[in-house]
Amino acid sequence: MSKVLIDEIVNGLYILRVNDEDIKYFEALWSIPEGITYNSYLLKTSTGYILFDTWKHHYSKLFLESLSSIVDPKEIKYIVVHHMEPDHSGSIKEVLEANRYKAIVIGHPLTKMMLKSFYGIEPRFRIVRDGEVLDIGDKKLMFIHTPWLHWPETIMTYLEDYGVLLSCDAFGGYSIPSTIFDDNREVVKSYMSYVKKYIANIIGYYRNHILRNIEKIKKLGLNIKIIAPAHGLVFRNNPGRIIDYYLRIGKAEPLDNKVVVIYGSMYGFVEKAIEYAIEVLRKNGIKPVVFKFTDKEQTSISDIVSEVIDSKAIIFGAGTYEAGVFPTIRYVAEVIKHKVGGGKQVLIISSYGWGGVAGKKLQDILAPEFNIVDVIEFRGMPSKDYLERVKKALDRLIG
Ligand SMILES: Cc1cc2nc3c(=O)[nH]c(=O)nc-3n(C[C@H](O)[C@H](O)[C@H](O)COP(=O)(O)O)c2cc1C
Ligand SMILES: [Fe+2]
Ligand SMILES: [Fe+2]
Repeated sequence: MSKVLIDEIVNGLYILRVNDEDIKYFEALWSIPEGITYNSYLLKTSTGYILFDTWKHHYSKLFLESLSSIVDPKEIKYIVVHHMEPDHSGSIKEVLEANRYKAIVIGHPLTKMMLKSFYGIEPRFRIVRDGEVLDIGDKKLMFIHTPWLHWPETIMTYLEDYGVLLSCDAFGGYSIPSTIFDDNREVVKSYMSYVKKYIANIIGYYRNHILRNIEKIKKLGLNIKIIAPAHGLVFRNNPGRIIDYYLRIGKAEPLDNKVVVIYGSMYGFVEKAIEYAIEVLRKNGIKPVVFKFTDKEQTSISDIVSEVIDSKAIIFGAGTYEAGVFPTIRYVAEVIKHKVGGGKQVLIISSYGWGGVAGKKLQDILAPEFNIVDVIEFRGMPSKDYLERVKKALDRLIG
């Protein structure tokens, strides 16, 4: 597949999409072997062109070339900045230079300040209020403030003439779908798991704002026919599907009996009790999703957060390590508390050599957000009595 995809979404509205296959860790943090796309949009009006966002700086040259295949950058009259995170704003300086700073930049009040501090630029700027409608040539644009999706300055644009919502990060997802639109069932199906991972990793901490902003958009009573986000698929067949999916994941709604097991084990002591727990779960008809950190296997924390967000219960396993929690699991527990939070059942299993502290310390990390069913901590290998306690705790975990 070509790296750049350009298409006309509706008459006069173009998508410019780049497939980022070079990236390994989104935000230098989240492992995404599946890649990601950056979607910019361009609208033709009777008074000139409006550009909505750009691409990451890594692709600024390619962005200018792609943009120039549709319009001379000097002809761009307005640039709407939906979000200042540099995966979208990263090429704006290059565009403005090619444009000779003729365009008026449109955005949230904070965006003006951020353009200066991020890129040292002070272009002509038009602040838009929440719900403000601008007539630009023959087109009507409504700007909606959508704070914390994903930053405080984030806005969306509703193109009234087409029923298109340019939603930026919201309603987007990871991966490089083989199509631009949600036309193919199989493409949409495999894409959705990357949407979940994206929500959990990127907007998880602000998940209440997903619900708040969707509620706000619904109240506006817009006739949304197409959702065009800044990452991933454009939804024109079933825009309701991506909205409902965001609502479900935003609520961290548990799937029936979904249990995630996350453990680290240096020499197999914790693993013994974890394997027993997995066996008991399987006997009860539950297939847990297991992530392990051992001397043979290390797993993706991005995937863990994604699997946890729609789980019912989580089992953590970690031994005591230098008077603390085995470090990787401590980090994973902190990330899960931060990104997911909220009410899931948790069982903690731990082992120690001479003085156990990991169980209690994990409990201290997780207790404010989660419902801790039990903390089972044993010296070295778990005895039969401890395994019996694991079994009893599992009844409460999934009961
Ligand atoms: C690097 C290292 C540090 C450890 N630090 C402690 C410690 O501070 N306190 C303690 O009681 N045990 C400590 N232990 C012992 C382990 O907690 C104990 O062997 C436990 O059973 C390990 O379980 P695992 O092999 O499943 O990781 C340490 C072990 C290792 C390898
Ligand atoms: Fe973002
Ligand atoms: Fe983004």
